[in-house]
Amino acid sequence: MAIKDIAAVARSGLPLKRILNSIARRTARVLQAAGCAVMMLDPQKKFLIPTGTYGLSDLYLRKGYLRAHHSIPAILEGKAIAILDASKDQRIEYPQAARDEGIVSILGVPIFGTDGVVGELRIYTHEPRRFSSFDREFASAAAAIIALVLDKETARQSLPQPSATTISPTTTQPTRQTVSRLRHPDFSHPSEAEFARLLDFYRIDWLYEPRAFPIKREGNRITEMFTPDFYLPEMDLYIELTTMKQRLITEKNRRIRLLRQLYPDIKIRLLNRSDYAKLLAKYGYGPLAAAKVQGISRVLFNHAQIQRRVGTLAKRISRDYAGHDLVLVGVLKGVLCFMSDLMQRVSLPVTVDFMGVSYFADAAGEAVTITKRLDTSIEGKHVLMVEDIVDTGMTLKYLLEHLADHKPASLKVCTLLDKRIRRIVDVKLDYVGFEVADEFVVGYGLDYQGKYRNLPFIGVLGPAPIPE
Ligand code: IMP
Repeated sequence: MAIKDIAAVARSGLPLKRILNSIARRTARVLQAAGCAVMMLDPQKKFLIPTGTYGLSDLYLRKGYLRAHHSIPAILEGKAIAILDASKDQRIEYPQAARDEGIVSILGVPIFGTDGVVGELRIYTHEPRRFSSFDREFASAAAAIIALVLDKETARQSLPQPSATTISPTTTQPTRQTVSRLRHPDFSHPSEAEFARLLDFYRIDWLYEPRAFPIKREGNRITEMFTPDFYLPEMDLYIELTTMKQRLITEKNRRIRLLRQLYPDIKIRLLNRSDYAKLLAKYGYGPLAAAKVQGISRVLFNHAQIQRRVGTLAKRISRDYAGHDLVLVGVLKGVLCFMSDLMQRVSLPVTVDFMGVSYFADAAGEAVTITKRLDTSIEGKHVLMVEDIVDTGMTLKYLLEHLADHKPASLKVCTLLDKRIRRIVDVKLDYVGFEVADEFVVGYGLDYQGKYRNLPFIGVLGPAPIPE
């Protein structure tokens, strides 16, 4: 019985990747198909990454990254989908690559984790095929066994000292580590593995060699391909790593030049070790991060940390205000970046307005005056005041009192940073991104004398003392 064989492979104790390759091979053979692929969703559920495959050429596997919501998206809704002619079907992201590979029909079934779909099993044929109910049931059974393999791997990773009593069925969603281990391919050079680890550490998404670019042809025949080492989706950037050997650098430069000529829309960087440290530094990561920007002594929150936190706040706000229209009110200019990211992630109808303030000192101490009022009325509306940082709390208190006079239906506060230790007046903060110590911070909208707002991370200014 073929399904019994697949179950036996699943229990074999072989490395995960070999198990998945073997299941792909057996599934293809039983279904008399030309190829089969186990595709896992990346942790952000944006891409499908081939993790176990059989019968597919390297060129086809490297046809480009598969965007989960563009490549037969209905599978992600939990459905088995059959495609009769892949070269013509709108749901296929790379029809030309399918034609070149000789792929005609495709059957895709979801792989379910505890919280929904975590991947897909796809079966490919070279002839038009109307997949039978046996085909579908067999593929679904194989997908269910793959899910168990992933569960087992996740449980093994999360339990360094396995104890039957502590295995909770709710921990079986493949973790970030399981997925990231799965997609850690056999790197062709140790520096690639190191770069991947570095990217993982800083939580920058990456795909390894997802696309092979033909760079030379003779007639219809491709005579030279170039496969950049990495693709970083967040930055829409391909990366080719180099060692220090000049001969190799010259050769790589030649290929990159050709690639740029033939594919002008593709962004690619050739990186050596110090280059990639500099690239990471731009986003506030890595050993050079602070040194990269003059005046910054330390990175407090890098780009990815900020984005994750903003995402969490936006989710909470969307949940708390569900069913209501919301007005986001920001104070210029420090809130610029935060407001922009937050409003894009709030999944409710929102309107946005801004106020301007200026500070002056008089005999009674520091005071705030409003230099720009709201453009629209907030009477009877739910208002969320969005702040970059709350320090003494004086600005916020003043503005809240001003806004309350306009009789909103509700008035709450969301601040990215809370410098609680410096608080003088008590104000209630409903949503807080991060608490910070008594240090002057800049970046991501926050400035010092008008500078540093454009840094994509938040850093501490120093060590030079800040003039009073
Ligand atoms: P508060 O009235 O003392 O709470 O001051 C709030 C305003 O001071 C913020 O909106 C910022 O413009 C500014 N501010 C306070 N601390 C910092 C900082 O560490 N970096 C940049 N601006 C700051």
